[in-house]
Amino acid sequence: MKTSRISGFYNLSIEERMKIVREFSQLEEKDIEELKKPLDMDIANRMIENVVYLMDVPVGIATNFLINGKDYLIPMAIEEPSVVAAASNAAKVARAKGGFRAISTEPLMIGQIQVVNIKDPYSAKFKILENKQELIRIANEQDPVLVSLGGGCKDIEVRILDTKLGPMVIVHIIVDVRDAMGANAVNTMAESLAPYIEDITGGKVYLRILSNLAVYRLARAWAVFPRSEIGDAVEGIYHAYEFARVDPFRATTHNKGIMNGIDAVLIATANDWRAVEAGAHAYAALNGYTSLTHYEINNEGDLVGYIELPVAVGTVGGASSTHPKAKIARKILNVSSAREFSEILASVGLAQNFAALRALATEGIQRGHMSLHARNIAIMAGATGDLIDKVAEIMVSEKKVRVDRAREILEKLKNENR
Ligand code: MEV
Repeated sequence: MKTSRISGFYNLSIEERMKIVREFSQLEEKDIEELKKPLDMDIANRMIENVVYLMDVPVGIATNFLINGKDYLIPMAIEEPSVVAAASNAAKVARAKGGFRAISTEPLMIGQIQVVNIKDPYSAKFKILENKQELIRIANEQDPVLVSLGGGCKDIEVRILDTKLGPMVIVHIIVDVRDAMGANAVNTMAESLAPYIEDITGGKVYLRILSNLAVYRLARAWAVFPRSEIGDAVEGIYHAYEFARVDPFRATTHNKGIMNGIDAVLIATANDWRAVEAGAHAYAALNGYTSLTHYEINNEGDLVGYIELPVAVGTVGGASSTHPKAKIARKILNVSSAREFSEILASVGLAQNFAALRALATEGIQRGHMSLHARNIAIMAGATGDLIDKVAEIMVSEKKVRVDRAREILEKLKNENR
């Protein structure tokens, strides 16, 4: 049985880590070759406009994740130190009580159609709803493939907004986008309905666009972080959570930490991380900005974590299907649907938040950051192999993380070993 519980992954060389990932995810030689190459400039040039060069971001693998009984290695693309280590660490703690459990709703996205110049908004609302089945039929004509897969427009809702330009009638089309992120399908449907809605209401349609506040496309994850693993940090984390729950200044940073993890996986898989970011923060703000996670202490005294947020991600379509490295990242993740992917993302978000709160409520986050920084400085000073960690540890304990000091320590250690 393959497991993502890999101790000491951190201390292995890049080649050794790659070998483990390769075996775990059954990557082929051509995948490994692809991962070593920069993105083809022709592909880049077709992806966006005015391309000049590529921006490199390191991809680390988060280990130890057990989600709904399945082991995952999770690729994370991020420039910030400590995030990958923190996620792996939290996943290790959660594993002791069975890992993460995660669920998701059907992949329902909302498309908005804005109708203005309407004097009688309730009559307009009534007429739109009266014609609902016909409007759904027209929307679904736009995407027979999606419909054949069980997706398509499922419902229509109408809201009336009181604005300083008069009443606006906002039509929401609710579209099951299956394994796509869904922006293209939803926008096409919304555009196709505009003339019919103008006819029905006598109003004028301006905007026809997906909403990133995907309240019907939620992912939820839940995990127990046992006291036997984290001791008194249970109380510290619980207090940290309560702080975020009641204070938007703290909740913003708390949720930023959650998105550190989620965005990193989205970037590694070339998903639209801005869409998920926007949806997550808007969801957190629905009843006054607050924490996306919740914590409780159960009868055994263990900490129980819960997260709930909209996760609009795809496993088909868009850059995630054209970017060669994103395709391999998905192979590493071994997800078979957008829903499973959203459940992984929610679990990573919860793990990241737990790890941040644990560090903040105990030793603070600077020590973790410092150790990684110190390792880099030790390497800059010429340390190799075991000496990297030894030099780094001494510098951290002295609270002097500088290249000149690293050189002195390195010299001393080398002389002692002679
Ligand atoms: C830093 O990128 C993220 C944290 O600030 C999150 C938090 O404060 O919860 C550590």
